[in-house]
Amino acid sequence: LPISAHPPPKDAHMKNGYVISTDKSKLDIDAIHDYLCHRSYWGRGRTVETVRKSIANSLCFGIYSRSSQLAGFARVVSDFALFAYLMDLFILEAHRKRGLGKWLVESIIREPALKDIRFWRLDTMDAHGLYRKYGFQAPAFPERIMEMRRSPTRAVDTDG
Ligand SMILES: CC(C)(COP(=O)(O)OP(=O)(O)OC[C@H]1O[C@@H](n2cnc3c(N)ncnc32)[C@H](O)[C@@H]1OP(=O)(O)O)[C@@H](O)C(=O)NCCC(=O)NCCS
Repeated sequence: LPISAHPPPKDAHMKNGYVISTDKSKLDIDAIHDYLCHRSYWGRGRTVETVRKSIANSLCFGIYSRSSQLAGFARVVSDFALFAYLMDLFILEAHRKRGLGKWLVESIIREPALKDIRFWRLDTMDAHGLYRKYGFQAPAFPERIMEMRRSPTRAVDTDG
């Protein structure tokens, strides 16, 4: 059903015919998996089961075009008190360069459930300039940050 057939949920935001929503029932899991598994630089080979589980356990944001097609996605892993990790953010190729990436990042950090979070993290290869617009910076104390990367047999992938 087109989005217009439903009353918009309270958390929906609209701009230029696009809608951002945190309603997981609207997410096109196959389109998200297809992008992450085949076209992203960080989620290559991620299985649909992993995508589904990561969505189930995250606060997810979908952007939808006028025709209700998925145009972009991101998810946030958070304790909703102190810390939030922004992951898997993308705008699908056909919808890029019209401000949707900026709108998505801005909507995420303004989301009521997250607006008081004081400590955000994310990984990015080349989109630092996008996130810098919203207050993200290179880590102040990189020497204090540790991580662990395990082989694919133990954890398919944990990036993004
Ligand atoms: C990065 C991405 C989300 C940007 O989405 P978009 O809707 O095309 O971007 P917008 O139109 O909102 O503009 C993005 C702004 O960030 C800037 N920017 C900085 N680094 C960028 C990058 N690597 N890619 C795109 N924009 C970038 C742009 O110059 C632009 O700023 P401007 O408006 O001042 O010119 C999108 O290109 C994408 O999904 N890329 C592939 C996946 C990816 O790299 N995700 C981020 C991984 S953390």
